[in-house]
Amino acid sequence: MDIVVFGAGSIGSLFGALLARVPEHSVTLVGRDRHIAAVRDSGLRVTGVDDFVVRPSATTDGTDLSADLALVTVKSFDTETAARELGTGAFRAVCSLQNGLGNEETLARHLNCPVLAGTTSYGAVREAPGAVAWNGSGDIVVGPWDPRDADGAADEVGEAFAAADLSITVADADGIRRRLWHKLAANAAVNPTTALARVENGAFGNQPGSDLVEPIAREVAATARASGVDVDDEEAAAAVAEVIEATAGNESSMYRDVERGRRTEIDVINGYVVEQARKHGIDVPVNETLWTLIRTWEAGRELRDP
Ligand code: PAF
Repeated sequence: MDIVVFGAGSIGSLFGALLARVPEHSVTLVGRDRHIAAVRDSGLRVTGVDDFVVRPSATTDGTDLSADLALVTVKSFDTETAARELGTGAFRAVCSLQNGLGNEETLARHLNCPVLAGTTSYGAVREAPGAVAWNGSGDIVVGPWDPRDADGAADEVGEAFAAADLSITVADADGIRRRLWHKLAANAAVNPTTALARVENGAFGNQPGSDLVEPIAREVAATARASGVDVDDEEAAAAVAEVIEATAGNESSMYRDVERGRRTEIDVINGYVVEQARKHGIDVPVNETLWTLIRTWEAGRELRDP
C-alpha cells in the first residue's frame, strides 16, 4: 500500500517507521525541516521496544501527493493546514490518528475521499531529528467516520497495519465514535490536570485530586449521549482509569507541551466537550474550568492565534 504519513511527530514517525518495514508498503513522511533533513540523510531510527532504522521517502511539501492512504498525525491545531495541503492531492482514503474530536470534520471539508477515524494507545517520543523512541505498544482502532463511507477502506487500512504486526481492530461507524469519546474522556481528564499539576499520568491517579476523574468523565459521557453517541458514565470513568494505569509512568502530551512552552491541544479536548455541551444546553463546569486555565496559560505566552 502507498501511504503518506502527514505529521512526522512522535506517533507519525513511529507508525511511519513501522509501516515502512513492510516491503509491500511505500511510505512518505511529511514533516518539518530538521527532522525531514535528518531522515533523508541517515534514515529514521527507532529505539526502545525494538531498535531499527528505515529509509522512507521524506518531504516538507504536503501538496500534490497521491497515495492509497493519507494518515494524518499532526497536532490538531494544524489539521486545517494539513487538510488544505492534502486536498491538492489524490487519496483512496484519509485517516485521522490524532487526539481530540473535530479533526474528521475538517478533513471531510477538504478531501474528496472516505474519511476514517482512529485512536491509538501506542506510545512514542521524538527524541531528536531523525530519531523516535518507541515507549510502548497498545492498540489501534480505526473505522469509517461517516457510515456512508463503509466501502471497505477501513478494512484495507486494517490489513496494511496488521501486515506491520501492529495490533489493530476495525470498527463500524458507531463503534469508532464510541471509542473516540472514550479516548476523549481520558484526554479530558489526564491531559490538562497533569499539565497543570506537572505530574506523570499515574501520579495524578493516586492523588486526592484524582476524584476529579469521575466528574470529568461524567460530563464527557453526558455530552456524548447528547451528541447521539451511547456512552455511559461508568464506561467513560473506566476508560480514563484504564489509560491512567496503562500510561502511569508517562508524561502526557499536554504536560510535555506546557513544559516546552508549546501550544496544546486543549481546544479539541476539553474545548470540544464544552462547545458540544453548549449546543445541547448541558453544563460541564469542570471541563470548562480546565479549558479556561490552559487557554489562559497559552494566551499569556502568545501561543494562540490572535
Ligand atoms: O495525549 C496523551 O498523552 C495520550 O493521549 C494519553 C492517552 C493521555 C496518555 O498520555
